[in-house]
Amino acid sequence: MYTSEELLKKVNASLDGIVYDRKPFTLYEPIKYVLSLGGKRVRPVLMLLAYNLYKDDPERIMTQAIGLETYHNFTLLHDDLMDNADMRRGHETVHKKWDANQAILSGDTMLLQAFERIEACEVDKVKDVFQTFLITTYEIGEGQQLDVEFETRNDVREEEYIEMIRLKTSVLLACAVKIGAILAGAPKKDWDNLYKFGEQIGLAFQLQDDLLDVYGDPKVFGKNIGGDITSNKKTYMLINAINRANDAQRQELKKWIEAKGFDRNEKVAAVTKLYDEIGIRQLCEQKMEECYQLALQYLAKVEVSEERKAELKAYAAEMMTRQS
Ligand code: IPE
Ligand code: IPE
Ligand code: MG
Ligand code: MG
Ligand code: MG
Repeated sequence: MYTSEELLKKVNASLDGIVYDRKPFTLYEPIKYVLSLGGKRVRPVLMLLAYNLYKDDPERIMTQAIGLETYHNFTLLHDDLMDNADMRRGHETVHKKWDANQAILSGDTMLLQAFERIEACEVDKVKDVFQTFLITTYEIGEGQQLDVEFETRNDVREEEYIEMIRLKTSVLLACAVKIGAILAGAPKKDWDNLYKFGEQIGLAFQLQDDLLDVYGDPKVFGKNIGGDITSNKKTYMLINAINRANDAQRQELKKWIEAKGFDRNEKVAAVTKLYDEIGIRQLCEQKMEECYQLALQYLAKVEVSEERKAELKAYAAEMMTRQS
């Protein structure tokens, strides 16, 4: 068995070893660029950890793990364009460094690379693996669509937000551990419990991403702070702030949500101050903890020895305290 640090090293070495020999190189350069900027590699590491629950040779599924990371990075190229985000992993985003067309086309190419890599698995596993991945990619598009539509709605309910983040974020973490289990030849009951584990970890992960978008340190987080507030993203925090605000606070929130031509920093500071007054940070942390505890309950149902599960469990715990 490997530790998550060892698996991360293997993932990074594998990404570094990718050869880009197709032409024109200009199409592939942004791909190389975004993959060279680091990132936590959560999805491939989760896939390898899940495989490692059953088998000791995770190198065997490295191509699929890299495929999932490639897919994730494709979503980032398009997401940054959609979210008008200029910073990612402490560097300029692709649409900023190049332009929108480049982010679209290099992103599309990464999507193809991802399918190619996922599909290159063992023949007797390919149907289940491909189907799992395909459904996941549909769902992420659906989640992203909802995320954008919610920006202009002011009546988004907490349940709708949870379903939206399940779709845009959770299902990919769930897919990672499920594919790891499928490729390891695990029993089907374990595929499902690992999937549900990934889903709950994924919810906590996106709640935390939203939290760090307000309270993170931009140098560590690698993204500009306040992007979600600026674009009226209906996060758990904003939805609950609206619901729990007193009349004066609600008026103030409404004013900022409806403001046109505002000063960005002023809006971010004002909304953050309201969050502080209403105690939104603690509320969000509580919700994260709930999801994390549920995740552990699903992991407990996976029929593998506690000793074997320890690394995946420790990795999940570490994810909950991340700052980047
Ligand atoms: C960013 O994903 C997008 C979300 C789903 C929150 P990560 O936080 O995993 O980003 P990297 O890959 O580590 O940069
Ligand atoms: C991430 O949502 C979802 C996907 C990329 C599919 P965010 O828009 O919150 O991710 P960041 O904060 O830009 O990484
Ligand atoms: Mg974004
Ligand atoms: Mg987004
Ligand atoms: Mg975010």
